[in-house]
Amino acid sequence: MSVPTISTHNLSISYWSKNKRIEALQNVSLTINAGEFVSLIGPSGCGKSTLLNVIAGLINSGTEVNGSFNISGIKEIGYLFQKQTLLPWRTVIDNVTAPLEIRGVSRHERRKIALAMLEKYGLSGFENSFPRELSGGMQQRVLLIRTLIYQPDVVLLDEPLSSLDAQTRAIVQDEFLRVWRDTGCTFVLVTHDLDEAIALSQRVFLLSARPGKIVKEFQIDLPPERSAIAIRTDPKFQQIQREMWSELTTQVLQPDRGISLLKT
Ligand SMILES: Nc1ncnc2c1ncn2[C@@H]1O[C@H](COP(=O)(O)OP(=O)(O)OP(=O)(O)O)[C@@H](O)[C@H]1O
Ligand SMILES: [Mg+2]
Repeated sequence: MSVPTISTHNLSISYWSKNKRIEALQNVSLTINAGEFVSLIGPSGCGKSTLLNVIAGLINSGTEVNGSFNISGIKEIGYLFQKQTLLPWRTVIDNVTAPLEIRGVSRHERRKIALAMLEKYGLSGFENSFPRELSGGMQQRVLLIRTLIYQPDVVLLDEPLSSLDAQTRAIVQDEFLRVWRDTGCTFVLVTHDLDEAIALSQRVFLLSARPGKIVKEFQIDLPPERSAIAIRTDPKFQQIQREMWSELTTQVLQPDRGISLLKT
């Protein structure tokens, strides 16, 4: 039986900025089960990062929260923030071990854990390199290792691959799938890339323009043992892709809102 690990009920979040209320999320109700891979897609500014911040417990006191959310039972959350980068003045190993350093793990133990993880994810031999000496895909992998190093049970990824070219992106997507299968963690991914959401997830939530509401939930019935690259030619993948685009263009990017992808 699936165990819910994250749930929200009629959750609305508003920020106050210069005495102006900005409603980011409106009546969002969702449940994410332990061990699931879920994606959130929706237009810029619809509250995707806000939702991840809620899950991570990073909503500050000036923010208006209505409705409820439950994240009880989560021991550790790994959060790869939007536009997060490695510390350029630190080597790969010193970047990767930073979360353990903060938790007071001894230097010897930190290095042991980090070296094992770097080896597991194909980065052996690069531990003393600086981020500038790595390719974009390798840097992204180091960021992922840093997110996973204290063995979180929930991993939040906010557009982690947006800076990568299409090919590198596909390779790292495959690695994300492998990590998800290996660790059994719950993954919540925010992406603007519909194909990426379908290739990786078990369920995808489509949000409307701000204030973000859930427009539709897609069940992605593709085998978990799939390759993020090869699955794109699967007729089932393509069918979900068509449905998603159709929903996006009719429900989210409506011409009367001035945001249309359709040529007139
Ligand atoms: N700390 C804050 N203070 C005030 N307004 C905020 C704050 N954080 C977000 N907002 C506003 O809330 C809305 C939702 O922001 P959020 O960053 O969650 O969107 P998003 O869906 O992640 O967008 P993008 O796809 O561009 O990253 C936006 O209008 C944004 O300006
Ligand atoms: Mg965002």
